[in-house]
Amino acid sequence: MTLPGFLSPAFTGRAFHAAPGFLHHLKTELNSGDLFEAGDLLVAPHSQQTPFWTRNTWLDPFVATFDSISQAANMLRAIQRNWAPCPVQAHRRTALISDALPPLPKKPRPFPFALPDVPMGAFALLDPHTLLASPTCSSPFPGGEIQFDENHTDPPSRAYLKLWEIFTRLGVHPRPGERCLDAGASPGGWTWVLTQLGADVLAVDRAPLAPHIAASPQVTAWQRNAFTLPPEEVGPVDWLFSDVICYPAALLRWVETWLASGLAARFVCTIKMQGTAFDRETTARFAAIPGSHIVHLWHNKHELTWYRL
Ligand SMILES: C[S@@+](CC[C@H](N)C(=O)[O-])C[C@H]1O[C@@H](n2cnc3c(N)ncnc32)[C@H](O)[C@@H]1O
Repeated sequence: MTLPGFLSPAFTGRAFHAAPGFLHHLKTELNSGDLFEAGDLLVAPHSQQTPFWTRNTWLDPFVATFDSISQAANMLRAIQRNWAPCPVQAHRRTALISDALPPLPKKPRPFPFALPDVPMGAFALLDPHTLLASPTCSSPFPGGEIQFDENHTDPPSRAYLKLWEIFTRLGVHPRPGERCLDAGASPGGWTWVLTQLGADVLAVDRAPLAPHIAASPQVTAWQRNAFTLPPEEVGPVDWLFSDVICYPAALLRWVETWLASGLAARFVCTIKMQGTAFDRETTARFAAIPGSHIVHLWHNKHELTWYRL
């Protein structure tokens, strides 16, 4: 592969590791002339962008050439301990360099846990003798992959992993006695997480909750359309959650109603894309809501997570 001129030792910019299956969305977001693509990695010179459809963003990548596996590993090791390989080509050499570096912490951890406070770097080989590496990345987990010690018995769906992830990433979660609205709650994975944290939950869904979730004294279940429920009927909530399957624009209208009411202190909502399309326009309107953020969680599918704390 011929490398573009900007991938020289003088390189500055960012590299974006696409969320699995969503490289095409990431390309749409970056929409830049100078873009180098290798596997799921897009390298953009002079970029300071923070696109959504990533599993990890390499914040200060550099380019270096090397002769041997040990020389590459020593160069990285001299900077810091942790380097996650991103095999885009020269896969065998990438694995050999990785094997020559200290092992990465990959063991699934029980929720909740504090984010690691040591830097997690990332590297890829652009050709057999050229390395692209970044000592700092947006995610403290190798390749942005956050692994929990899963609970296979209590939550009635795997959606609970999304809440575990966002709470871990943000370092905050509902406290005992706080009041949560969980819209689109059925079968009850999110409601289960919230009750485990000691919160009181108003779970609203057209479909019923799993009986063992509904049976909790912390849960009030309303089998209703969440979007026609006036905020005043619900009253003040410390947290508003939505995992409702709907068009992004419908979620936005509903969120705007709640924002205008001033009755919700914090928001965590899944923006679910419909079919294969990325609704850029509505996503941009969510992103423009003051104080809010959008991320693609490791546990998100064809969806983004919008939050405002
Ligand atoms: C992905 S599931 C939610 C999973 C849930 N968060 C969990 O952890 O188990 C989406 C839910 O949205 C609900 N839903 C769709 N439209 C709705 C509406 N207008 N009002 C309330 N719930 C709705 C569906 O019935 C479905 O249960």
